[in-house]
Amino acid sequence: MKIGIFGTGMVGRTLAERFIADGHQVMIGTRNIEKTLANTEPDLIGTPPYYQWQENNVTVQLGTFADTANFGEMIFISTFGQVALHAIDLAGIEKFDRKIVIDTTNPLDLSGGIPPSFAGAIGNSLGEQIQRHLPQAQVVKAFNTLSMHIVVNPQLEEGVPVLLLAGNDKEAKVKVEEVAKGWGWKDVIDLGDIGEAFYMEASALLWIRYAFNNASWTHAFSLLRK
Ligand SMILES: NC(=O)c1ccc[n+]([C@@H]2O[C@H](COP(=O)([O-])OP(=O)(O)OC[C@H]3O[C@@H](n4cnc5c(N)ncnc54)[C@H](OP(=O)(O)O)[C@@H]3O)[C@@H](O)[C@H]2O)c1
Repeated sequence: MKIGIFGTGMVGRTLAERFIADGHQVMIGTRNIEKTLANTEPDLIGTPPYYQWQENNVTVQLGTFADTANFGEMIFISTFGQVALHAIDLAGIEKFDRKIVIDTTNPLDLSGGIPPSFAGAIGNSLGEQIQRHLPQAQVVKAFNTLSMHIVVNPQLEEGVPVLLLAGNDKEAKVKVEEVAKGWGWKDVIDLGDIGEAFYMEASALLWIRYAFNNASWTHAFSLLRK
C-alpha cells in the first residue's frame, strides 16, 4: 500500500520505518523539502535533523504536503497538533476525499514549558476538527495515546497494552485495526465516533505528563476487566 505521512518528526519517521519494513511504499510530507533537508540542527526535544535519518532510510520519499496527500492511499496526520489543519490546507482538502486519514496528533500547550499541558476542548478535539475539515475523508483517531516506539512494536515486558481508536466510519476503523494487528496489537478497543477523540487526546496527556515527571518512556496503561 502507498502510505502518506504528514510530519517529519519522530512520529512520522517511526511510522515510516515500520511501514517500509512491512513492504509498503512511504512518502513523508513537509512544508519545504529543501529547507527540511538543509536543516542540520536537532529539534527542541533532541530529534536529529531529518537529512541524517533520511541517509539511513533512502527508500522513504520526501514530498510536500500536497505530494504526500496525492501519494497516500492511507494518510497519517502526524504534525504538531495545533498546525494540523494548516498542513492539510497546504495540501488541499480535496486530495483527502474518500481516503482513510489517521490522526495521531495531540493538543499540547508548551507555553508553560515541559511537561506540556492540555490545550484541548470538549467537542473540539483535533480529531473532530480534522473530520469536520475533511468531510469526504474517513478520519480515525488512533496511535496518539502512547510513545510511537511502542505503537509500532507494542510487546512490553508485562504484555501488550490496549489500543484505543475512534471515528465515524466502521470500515475505516477495521482497516486501521488490521494495520495495528500487523504490528502486534491484540486488544483493540473501538471507543465510538470521532467525538471520543477528545478523551483520547486527554489521556495522551496523562501518558506524557507521567513520562516527563518520572523519566519513563516505555510505559503504557492497561484496561483490566472482571
Ligand atoms: N512523540 C510521540 O511518541 C507521539 C506519540 C503519539 C502522538 N504524538 C503526536 O504526534 C504528532 C507529531 O509529533 P512529532 O514529535 O513527531 O512532531 P512535531 O515536532 O510535533 O511536528 C513536526 C511536524 O509539524 C510540522 N509543522 C510545524 N509547524 C508547522 C506549521 N506552522 N505548518 C505546518 N506544519 C508544521 C513540521 O513541518 P516541517 O516538516 O515543514 O518542519 C513537521 O513535519 C504530535 O501531534 C504529537 O503530539 C507523538
